[in-house]
Amino acid sequence: MHILVTGGAGFIGSHSVAALLADGHTVRVFDNLSSGQAANVPAEAELVIADITDHAAVEAAIRGCAATLHLAALVSVPQSLEQPIETLAVNTTGTAHLLEAARRAGCARVVLASTCAVYGDIPGVKDEQAPLRPLVPYATSKLMAEELMRCYARSYGVQAISLRYFNVYGPRQRADSPYSGVLARWCAAARAGQLCRVFGDGEQTRDFVSVHDVARANLMALTSPAAVSGEVYNVATGRATSLNDILTTLRDLVGPQFSWEHAPARTGDIPHSRGDSARLQDLGWHPQVGLSAGLAELVMIR
Ligand code: UD1
Repeated sequence: MHILVTGGAGFIGSHSVAALLADGHTVRVFDNLSSGQAANVPAEAELVIADITDHAAVEAAIRGCAATLHLAALVSVPQSLEQPIETLAVNTTGTAHLLEAARRAGCARVVLASTCAVYGDIPGVKDEQAPLRPLVPYATSKLMAEELMRCYARSYGVQAISLRYFNVYGPRQRADSPYSGVLARWCAAARAGQLCRVFGDGEQTRDFVSVHDVARANLMALTSPAAVSGEVYNVATGRATSLNDILTTLRDLVGPQFSWEHAPARTGDIPHSRGDSARLQDLGWHPQVGLSAGLAELVMIR
């Protein structure tokens, strides 16, 4: 297939593009390079530099594509609290532009990168039937994007599949911004011999899923005939790990010089997050990368 990947120069995007190329597809990347980098895009993929809110650019880029992986987004929870309008414009309106362009161009399938943040702070393991309680603009922007996906599935027959990623980590995740993911920041600090910072008491837990596993989930959602249009699928390992346990693992990997300091908890921070991915596992996806192997890779390779 010829596949469009929005946000394809970014962290999850670049791994997904590599997985799609390896599976024999041709790929066009659409990215404004606001957080992604042209160097992340493999030479075999075409790169279109444009913004997801530029409707004409999206329409031109989707032409001839049988499927789209829609990753272009502002992904930070704290940034969304500071910039809610920008977050909604990119994540929600951007998805509307993409879906409308897909409808007009006859792009049969769209896969949206959504988030477990839509569940908010509801307790327990979250499966796709769990109540939804978005607590921050980021989560609301993605829940609205999911709703647009359902709308285009029902109203126009676009095969629209949303994946709710839990906490994704791995190589090429940006570490240089205050909005970067925790493992990217901590592993970068570990490599540089710097102190890392723990927001709150470190007892919060996350379901950390490797970007290599997420790239395989994306490939499956784009290609599986069994993936149900209008549905959402969790992408999670089912295991919750506390930040304090991560600190211990990193100290074991790096040595006693690895150290940290505590800072006040972040506004909007969810205490615990853990996902049930049985629905995606029914399609044949299983997480393959364990957290200690994933952390070792991150600490060593960059
Ligand atoms: C992350 C994703 C978001 C995704 C969500 C799903 C990023 C940047 N955000 O948000 O897109 O939808 O998971 O749950 O990947 N922390 C520290 N020190 C730091 C940085 C963070 O202690 O230097 C803490 C945070 O307060 C939080 C935890 O680590 O408790 C995880 O933070 P972060 O990696 O930013 O992810 P989420 O907020 O969970």
